[in-house]
Amino acid sequence: MAYKLGLIGYPVKHSLSPWIHQQFLTKAGLAGEYSIEEIAPNDSFKQEVERIKSSQFDGFNVTVPYKKQIIPYLDHLDKQAQAIGAVNTVVRQNKKWIGYNTDGAGYITGLKHYYPSIFANKQCSILLIGAGGAARGIFHSLAAAGFTRIDIANRTRSSAENIAASGGRKTKTSIITLKDAAYHLSYYDLIIQTTNVGMRPNVRDTVISLEHMSKDAIVSDIVYQPIETEFLHQAGKKGASVHYGHTMLLYQAQYAFELWTSKKVPLDDMEQQLQNILE
Ligand code: ATR
Repeated sequence: MAYKLGLIGYPVKHSLSPWIHQQFLTKAGLAGEYSIEEIAPNDSFKQEVERIKSSQFDGFNVTVPYKKQIIPYLDHLDKQAQAIGAVNTVVRQNKKWIGYNTDGAGYITGLKHYYPSIFANKQCSILLIGAGGAARGIFHSLAAAGFTRIDIANRTRSSAENIAASGGRKTKTSIITLKDAAYHLSYYDLIIQTTNVGMRPNVRDTVISLEHMSKDAIVSDIVYQPIETEFLHQAGKKGASVHYGHTMLLYQAQYAFELWTSKKVPLDDMEQQLQNILE
């Protein structure tokens, strides 16, 4: 059997997912292809999704701006995707289309790989900066992993409140302004930057100042273009441990691939290869 996989989103012409999944297919010794199925804003989303569903796909990834919009076209949502309210991976199972979200789990697995020590203290203080789709996935996965203190700082307070309200009872969350986050930064053991600030071409921008950061903190940025954002550069210069965004890209893909094929493929040197591609 040859797997038929793909990616819907816009714009996705330059996505790295075809490269990643082609590597996975080869490593797993499976035949198949992973195609880009770009859906432009003026295309009919419904028609395009129906076309994909009737084209023998075994599954597909969903990226911006369709992670929420895809939901009405699916037969069932897995628990995590339901809690997050967004889908990044769709699997065809017994002629039904099931939606999953592997973004948060991918983030957590990458973090655990590089910084296992943080998982030894679930009472540590975490600051999540941003309250978009990615932040939502990460928040839920951190809460599910048992972390008890996750504050959210976002430009728009209501989006942060939405995320906090959807969290479990065991997680304590304060909603703070970006300014307060910068001021109280020394309080946090793990700082996670999830906004698109600092993304190419605005590579000099940082969402908040790191002046008050503790040098014992772990600082993470989910932006991976460039690999070393100004935020991470400054954090590293001040002596903090840094966690790069492209690892989330790899691990969320590894989970998606496992959902489609039941094969967990080792990443081996893919992180290094991806770094070379991105640099
Ligand atoms: P994603 O799915 O990648 O998380 P998103 O849902 O569009 O993307 O969310 C983008 C996040 O970046 C939001 O938290 C957004 O803040 P708002 O909720 O206030 O819009 C944040 N963001 C984008 N540009 C920003 C900027 N210039 N300064 C601060 N935050 C910004």
